[in-house]
Amino acid sequence: MTDLIVTEDKIIERILTMELVRVTERAAVASAMLRGRGNEKAADQAAVDAMRRELNKLPIDGTVVIGEGERDEAPMLFIGEKVGTTKGPKVDIAVDPLEGTTLCAKDMPGSIAVMAMAQAGTLLYAPDVYMDKIAIGPGYPKGIVDLDAAPEDNIMALAKAKGCKPNEITALVMDRPRHAELIARLRAIGCSIRLITDGDVVGVIQCAEPATGIDIYLGIGGAPEGVLAAGALRCVGGQMQGRLILDTPEKVARAATMGIKDPKKKYDLHELASGDVVVAATGVTDGALLKGVKFSGDVIETETIVYRSLTGTVRRIAGEHRELAKFHLD
Ligand code: FBP
Repeated sequence: MTDLIVTEDKIIERILTMELVRVTERAAVASAMLRGRGNEKAADQAAVDAMRRELNKLPIDGTVVIGEGERDEAPMLFIGEKVGTTKGPKVDIAVDPLEGTTLCAKDMPGSIAVMAMAQAGTLLYAPDVYMDKIAIGPGYPKGIVDLDAAPEDNIMALAKAKGCKPNEITALVMDRPRHAELIARLRAIGCSIRLITDGDVVGVIQCAEPATGIDIYLGIGGAPEGVLAAGALRCVGGQMQGRLILDTPEKVARAATMGIKDPKKKYDLHELASGDVVVAATGVTDGALLKGVKFSGDVIETETIVYRSLTGTVRRIAGEHRELAKFHLD
């Protein structure tokens, strides 16, 4: 077990683990209906509506702490929104109903519906800004990589710990102009780089999935995505650090209203998601982590992965949905 230091009052009832699966399944199916239609907003809205409907059936007193806040301008599942029947535990809810909206709209690999649930007050209330991130999978000595170290030094240290050469390390980086220097420096020491166009929740999680061949995630992506990925990594014992990029007075002020006193703070995994946390993700399009939704005849098939940090349990759930298929495929 990974995190048994969590105190009793921070434990999420385990029965809720499976309830989260239902929530992300529904959001994934709703947005998958709009795969490849070139309409990001419609696909996102479909996922938001479905996720909200399902969340409101859960016996929880939930508050959305990471939601479709400022950047996406979606009308629902905004930060501060109350979800659930209110007859249940007080929980923090972090959602990204459609992570990788462009991937879904273009029917490209890697879009997912993802959410996390944690005891109230235990997730970092991250504003919708960028976050500088570094992550590796489990099995390494604590602290062998550091957000403030030179990228070359991180790769060297990781290679040494893995017992290989730097040119046998694969880093995952988002394909953005802001990463041009990082990419050049990593390539200069022979490191292989897998570039992704979107979807860095899965990007970070891939470090903990040996089959993907990813050793390390480096670079800047969304802060909400960072917290969601941290929740999943907590479960499998990987390492991660993140720093919010609060580069304007407005962002610093916005973060302050969310309780962030030190705008330059480097958060580690256990500060991004401190208590017991459950994270569920369902594939929308096929990807490195999950298969996408499959519509076949009178059945809709889904694949979901759900992480529970308290016990370090990871479940992959293949869903076959028949009633849902009648509703969606009529
Ligand atoms: P959306 O699903 O909101 O489009 O986010 C996709 C994403 O690629 C995230 O995975 C990532 O953290 C963020 O966007 C990066 O932001 P940007 O596209 O501005 O570089």
